[in-house]
Amino acid sequence: MAFGYEASSNHRLLLVRRPAGVPVQDDFTVDEVELPQAEEGTFVVRNLFLSVDPAQRGWATTGTHYTAPVRLGTVMRALAVGQVIASRHSAFLEGTHLYGWFGWQEYALARPDDVLTLIEALDIPLSAYAGVLGINGLTAALALKRIGRPVAGDTIIVTTAAGAVGSVATQLARAAGCTVVGITGSDEKAARCIGRFGCHRAINYREGKIELLLDANLPGGADILFDSVGGQLLDAMIRRLRRGGRIIQCGTASVPGWSPPPTGLRNEREILLKSLLWGGFVVFDHVSEFAVETRRLASLLREGKLIYEEDIRQGLIKAPRALTDIYAGRNSGKVLIAL
Ligand SMILES: NC(=O)c1ccc[n+]([C@@H]2O[C@H](COP(=O)([O-])OP(=O)(O)OC[C@H]3O[C@@H](n4cnc5c(N)ncnc54)[C@H](OP(=O)(O)O)[C@@H]3O)[C@@H](O)[C@H]2O)c1
Repeated sequence: MAFGYEASSNHRLLLVRRPAGVPVQDDFTVDEVELPQAEEGTFVVRNLFLSVDPAQRGWATTGTHYTAPVRLGTVMRALAVGQVIASRHSAFLEGTHLYGWFGWQEYALARPDDVLTLIEALDIPLSAYAGVLGINGLTAALALKRIGRPVAGDTIIVTTAAGAVGSVATQLARAAGCTVVGITGSDEKAARCIGRFGCHRAINYREGKIELLLDANLPGGADILFDSVGGQLLDAMIRRLRRGGRIIQCGTASVPGWSPPPTGLRNEREILLKSLLWGGFVVFDHVSEFAVETRRLASLLREGKLIYEEDIRQGLIKAPRALTDIYAGRNSGKVLIAL
């Protein structure tokens, strides 16, 4: 079977301005360059699905401990699923499907270090490898395993519960025998958390005072908090944890910016007196576990024990707006850009 370029040039999305908070369209521009050519030890990937991730706000602004900020004028850092179409590396043959650091562009010149997953099982849709089998599903699974450690009878609060990470965390926690209370941003999403993903109860945090909503839905408190939002919601939720509770700090979606660092309510008293454990989780610290965990999640998918939703948009130019939308809750499931 022959593989090759389907276009005569490569369109790329470049970061041209440091976002002030949530990235917007004008922080990016599209350019058009020659197609990359494989050199010794490299291969060319044609991107099929670009991933849009909340973490890109951090990559475009301050950077993180695992990656420097994207340099202005260069391709926006992004994960993607693609196919090798030209190769000068014996381990990455033409036709191979991969998930990795291929950027917001049509074609990427890649090296082995850029690859997170070698996609072997093609009975599962390719897009799933960028979401439920990508960093989103892996984050849910590994953060629960490492920090949440759910046992039957626990009550867990899951924030961003209708989203790519939260929906998987919900289903895995429920399968472990937990009572799951989802937190999300609309009545429609709350209904989906219960009807599709199996939350026992779901709270629309925009509906009223969060303290009252939590008290009504968590009369006995909770044992685990899977938090991806931070800020005032986190403060309110910490106060409802039981003794020995575990907090997974997975994200900070509700915090508008980190410079200057925000201050607010203090929780040290609850942490101390309830012997709470508060652990930060970064999925890229656990890359060595990806292959095994991806296979486990793939088995659950095949058995019909894990469902997922995708919000797939068409065309490279849609990517920045899709990132803005995620921070406004205007997404239903894993956001991908199909090329
Ligand atoms: N630590 C890690 O390694 C790691 C890896 C992947 C993802 N994450 C984190 O996991 C979280 C979910 O990521 P995802 O990819 O699955 O995205 P997602 O949940 O599909 O989409 C993000 C969701 O965040 C919620 N949100 C946005 N702004 C908010 C605000 N101001 N206050 C409260 N909620 C807000 C929205 O849901 P509602 O409409 O329900 O508010 C939005 O749909 C993010 O915080 C992300 O950074 C962490």
